[in-house]
Amino acid sequence: MLALFLLPDGIHAYTGATLILACHFLRPGQNGTNTSTIQMRPVMGQPTKTRFDTLALHAGQKPDPVHGARAVPIYQTASYVFKDSDQAASLFNMERPGHAYSRLSNPTTAVFEERIAALEGGVGGIATASGQAALHLAITTLMDGGSHIVASSAIYGGSHNILQYTLPRFGIETTFVSPRDIDGIRNAIQPNTRLIFGEVVGNPGNDVMNLPVVAQIAHEHGIPLMIDSTFTTPHLIQPFDHGVDIVMHSATKFLCGHGTVIGGVLVDRGQFSWENSGKFENLSSPYKGFHNMSFDEESSQAAFLLRARREGLRDFGACMSPTTAFYVIQGMETLSLRMDRHVQNTRKVVEFLLKSDAIEGINFPELPDHPDYHLAQQLLPKGAGAVFSFTLKGGREAGRLFTESLEIFSHLANVGDAKSLVIHPASTTHYRMSKDDLVAAGINEGTIRMSVGIEDIDDLLEDLSKGIRQSRKATKYEGTSMKITLGGIDYYAYTASHEPDPSLETIVFVHGTAMDHTVWALQSRYFAYHGYNILGVNLPGHNLSNGDLLPTIEDLGEWLEQIMSISVGKAFHLVGHSMGALICLQAAARYKNIEKPLNSLTLVGFSYPMAVAPQLLDAAKNNPNEAYSMMTQWSHASKTGGEPNPGFWSPGMQMSMMKNSPEGAVFTDLNACNDYQAGEAALEKVTCPTLFISGRLDKMAPAKLAVVHAGKSDLAKITMIPNCGHALMSEQPDSVLNELKQFIATHGSQQ
Ligand SMILES: Cc1ncc(COP(=O)(O)O)c(C=O)c1O
Repeated sequence: MLALFLLPDGIHAYTGATLILACHFLRPGQNGTNTSTIQMRPVMGQPTKTRFDTLALHAGQKPDPVHGARAVPIYQTASYVFKDSDQAASLFNMERPGHAYSRLSNPTTAVFEERIAALEGGVGGIATASGQAALHLAITTLMDGGSHIVASSAIYGGSHNILQYTLPRFGIETTFVSPRDIDGIRNAIQPNTRLIFGEVVGNPGNDVMNLPVVAQIAHEHGIPLMIDSTFTTPHLIQPFDHGVDIVMHSATKFLCGHGTVIGGVLVDRGQFSWENSGKFENLSSPYKGFHNMSFDEESSQAAFLLRARREGLRDFGACMSPTTAFYVIQGMETLSLRMDRHVQNTRKVVEFLLKSDAIEGINFPELPDHPDYHLAQQLLPKGAGAVFSFTLKGGREAGRLFTESLEIFSHLANVGDAKSLVIHPASTTHYRMSKDDLVAAGINEGTIRMSVGIEDIDDLLEDLSKGIRQSRKATKYEGTSMKITLGGIDYYAYTASHEPDPSLETIVFVHGTAMDHTVWALQSRYFAYHGYNILGVNLPGHNLSNGDLLPTIEDLGEWLEQIMSISVGKAFHLVGHSMGALICLQAAARYKNIEKPLNSLTLVGFSYPMAVAPQLLDAAKNNPNEAYSMMTQWSHASKTGGEPNPGFWSPGMQMSMMKNSPEGAVFTDLNACNDYQAGEAALEKVTCPTLFISGRLDKMAPAKLAVVHAGKSDLAKITMIPNCGHALMSEQPDSVLNELKQFIATHGSQQ
C-alpha cells in the first residue's frame, strides 16, 4: 500500500496525475476512482508543468464519468452506500480511496482541496467550515495543552481572539510580536513553542511579514511557519516558495470571491520533517484514536493533513459543505482575472485618495512611504492586494458620514468580494473603543478599511468623491453651515446644505451692517442648487461667528481675504451688500491667489464714502432701538413690503436681524462704513470684472454716486433696479438674482 502513496519525483511540477495521486492518498478524489485508472505520466519522462490559470480551472476534477457533467457536480450527500462490508471496512481503515461520510470527505469538497493545493504548490489540502475553523484545526492538530505559539500581533481580530483569549483556557499560550520585529520573533520562541503564525499582509494593519526570514528562524528551532494568505491568494504569492510550511485561507474572501459562502482551508507544503524536529509526537508516534497509526510513518509528506482529517475533522467536525465547496471552486476558476482587476482598481483608488486633502494617511504597502514597501516589492511583485486602509480627517463623524454616503461600496464586515466593500471600524466593529484604545489597536477614529472590487473604476471613483464630500461635513460643516477656523477662532458660513466641492466655483456672500447671511438666503440657495459652492459668511462677532467685531473695513477686508484663502473652490466670486460691499471691494483689492482666482465682484447697494447720517451714528451709539428703526425705514423704498415672496416681509425681517445683533455691532459697523476712505484706491486695484447693482430709490448709498464710481473703472459696469431702495436683494430678490446669474455666468469658469 505504501508504494502506492509514493509520489513521483517532480511532485511540484504538477501534472493532473501527480495531483490526483497525491490526493487519493489523503482521501479519494472526486470520482472515488481506483488509482489504477489514473493516467500517470511515466515517472522517468520529462515532467511538464501545468500552469496556474489552467490548474485554477481543472485541477482536481475530470468530467463526471457517469453523466459527463463538465461542471463540478455538487455531491450533496451525508454518506455513501457501501458496496459490501469489506469495502466499508477498507474505507474506514484508509486501505482504499473512497468516501464514507461527508464530515471526513466529500467528492465536491475534494475537488476544492486538490485545486487549492495545486495552486499553492502543496501536497494537499483540507477544507473547513470557515477560516477560523482552519486555524483551529491546524493548532489542535499540532499542539497539546502546554504548547506555545509565536504569532504576529498584526493579524485578523478573530485569529487574535482565539490565540489571546480562547486557547489559553486549554493551556495553549501565545506570545504576540510585531511582524516587523524579527529579533522579537526569534526571542519569543520557547522550548514548548510549536508554531509561528502570521499573515502575508496583515488585517487590518497591512504589515507585510518577511516570510523567508521568519521561515528560517522557525526551521532553526525545529518548528513550522504557518501563514494566513487570505488577502493575497496564490495568485499574488505562493508562500511555499518562501519557506512557509502550512498555508491557511479564509475561502470566504478572494478564493470564493463573491461573498456567497463562509469557508476555509489548510494546505500543507509537505516538506517539514516532523520526525526530525522531535517536537511533534502527535504526528510521529502511534495514535490510539486511529488504529495506532503513526501519521508520519504513513506519509512523511502529509502527516499533518492525515491527522487533521482523521482526528480534527472527525472529532471537531468543522468540515466544509459540498455546496460551499462548489461556490468556492466556481470563484477560483476566475481567480487570476479577478485578482489582477482587484489590484488594478486598488492602485487607481489609492492614487485618487492620495490627491484628496480630506485624507490624513493611506496605509498600503505599495506606497513608498509604507514601512514594508521594499518587502512588498520583493514578495508581492504582482500587487499587494485589494485591501487597505486610510484615515479621513474629521475623526469618527467623518468616517461615519463617508461610509453612509457611499452607494457602490457596500458598508459591511467582509473583504475579498468582487463587489467593493468598506467598513469604518470606529463606528462599527470597534464602536465601543475610546479614541486611545483605538490608537492602541492601530486604528484611528477616522480610519476606513476598504476592499476594492472589480467594478468600473470610474464608478468607484465617483462614489468615493461623494463619500469624501460628505466626510468634509464633519470637519467643517454643521447642518446647513460650515465652521471655518481661522487663527483659532470659529467663524460661521451658510452653505445652503451643500458641502464645498473643490471642483466648483465658490460664491462668497457678505452681509452688511448688523445683519447676517440670511439677507442673501434666496440668492445663495439658488446658486447652491445650480452648481456653485456657497459661503454665506457671518462677519466676526455677528450672529453665529465668534471673534471680536472688527472696527475698520480694512480689517474686515483682510479677514475676508484670509477666509477665502482657506476655503474650497476652484475660483471665487464675491458678492457684498452695503457694508459687505465695502468689505468685498477691500478684499478684492488685496486678493492675489492665482490658483483660486477671483472671477468677479458684485457690489450691491454700494457707494463710497458710505457716509452715515450723524443722527443715525448717534442713535447707534446711544439708542440702538432707534437706530434699528431708522435703518429699516431708510433701507426700504416701500415701507409696506410688497416684495414677490409670500410670507416674507423684508423690513420686518431686517429689523429683527438687526435687533439680534450683539451689543455695539450697529455702531461699530456703521462707524467702519463712515470712516472708510480707501474705496477709490481699492477699486483701482481690482482686476476682475465688477458689477454695481443699485436700487434706484436707495437713500443710504445713492445710485447717483454708484454711477460715478462705476464710470471710473474700465472693468466696472452698473445696473439699476427700479422701485427699490437700499435693501434691494430682499426688496427685489428676483431682479437682483437675475443680474447676478447673468454676471457670474458670464465671468465664471464653470462648465
Ligand atoms: C485574514 C483573515 N483570516 C481569517 C479570517 C477568518 O475567516 P472566516 O470568517 O472565514 O472564518 C478572516 C476573516 O475576516 C480574515 O480576514
